[in-house]
Amino acid sequence: MPLFFVVWIHLIAAITFIGGLIYLHLVLRPVLHSQLKEPEPNEVLRKTSQRFRTITWVSLIALVLTGAFNMLSEGGSARIETEWGVVLMLKLFLFAIAFGLVLIHDFVLDPYASSSQQSVKPQVVTSNIRRAAFVQQMILALTLIILLVATYLSSMY
Ligand code: HEM
Repeated sequence: MPLFFVVWIHLIAAITFIGGLIYLHLVLRPVLHSQLKEPEPNEVLRKTSQRFRTITWVSLIALVLTGAFNMLSEGGSARIETEWGVVLMLKLFLFAIAFGLVLIHDFVLDPYASSSQQSVKPQVVTSNIRRAAFVQQMILALTLIILLVATYLSSMY
């Protein structure tokens, strides 16, 4: 597969993931909370986030696969010893933390699992959703830093 095509998929995956998080936190969440009464905002956020969860995982898998392809095409082990390799390791380290936070958000906090939370008190659900929103904001901040490191990386020729 040509490298430009793989980089194109890499960029679409990054845009989709980061853009989705920005839209969720800067547009959808504030508008829902200002226009609807509790618990309606949480209900809409539950539904939208369930859909976004699938998009998140497809994007993350695409980033890892296309990123690995990029790495091999960019000289692979020959360049890993260079300054480029060190910056790439920093990017992968940050990505690993972001990935871990996604796992915590989706499988530990799991704020949008409707059926399992029917018996739980509404206050507990609300505080869990707040905690999950905070974790999502940390993921967003980290991915923006990863983006900065990635653009620096691609300027190191
Ligand atoms: C949130 C996660 C990620 C974001 C936002 C991101 C973003 C980017 C961007 C913007 C580029 C520059 C494309 C170009 O101009 O050529 C890039 C290149 C690259 N990415 Fe990622 N990426 C992410 C995850 C990954 C992962 C998981 C890997 C490895 C498995 C990876 C490996 C690479 C490599 C090797 C390059 C080429 C660097 C170069 O041009 O020197 N990326 N990435």
